[in-house]
Amino acid sequence: MKAATQLTDVRYQALDLDWLDRLLPIEQAAYSHPWTRGNFEDAIRAGYYGQLMLMNDQLIGYFVAMKGVDEVHLLNITVAPHHQKQGWARILLDELVAWSISQGAHWLWLEVRQSNRHAIAVYHAYGFRRIGMRRGYYPAAMGKREDAVVMNLPLEPSGRIRS
Ligand SMILES: CC(C)(COP(=O)(O)OP(=O)(O)OC[C@H]1O[C@@H](n2cnc3c(N)ncnc32)[C@H](O)[C@@H]1OP(=O)(O)O)[C@@H](O)C(=O)NCCC(=O)NCCS
Repeated sequence: MKAATQLTDVRYQALDLDWLDRLLPIEQAAYSHPWTRGNFEDAIRAGYYGQLMLMNDQLIGYFVAMKGVDEVHLLNITVAPHHQKQGWARILLDELVAWSISQGAHWLWLEVRQSNRHAIAVYHAYGFRRIGMRRGYYPAAMGKREDAVVMNLPLEPSGRIRS
């Protein structure tokens, strides 16, 4: 079933420590180098903005973001593997953009592994543009490092994208 037909059943829930047992299996299935329980605990204790997206009480995806001065930095966005490529990332990003604008942010920033073609295509289709690279930003297989692509999305209070 397509995501767009299910929107009336979707709700958001603040990420807190009680959800980690349900979230971590998704995180571990979705990434070669997943966040640990400690990474999520630190993010929650730091007061970062974390939201879970649920459909009929099933956890579909989540994000964690950090507010800066006039920007929001997306730290983690994940859709459960068997729900990927159904349009859920856009729905999660819409929620994050709405919150970012409500916080007075003018920019949304993120890093993504250079090899993560699907995520880069999703961000690009959403309106993010490629700004630069961070060399060796991520851990990779066999003790190596992988570059990050840095992307941003300009925001404006009256709408989603500034130009
Ligand atoms: C990256 C990620 C968040 C994207 O989420 P997603 O839900 O798969 O992304 P979307 O479905 O919104 O992407 C759009 C794709 O779905 C398709 N799509 C969009 N709406 C659709 C719908 N209603 N029905 C069917 N397909 C749809 C689009 O054609 C597009 O497909 P394509 O990329 O093959 O051309 C997800 O793949 C993920 O969690 N990956 C692992 C973790 C990760 O890499 N996170 C990002 C770290 S920076």
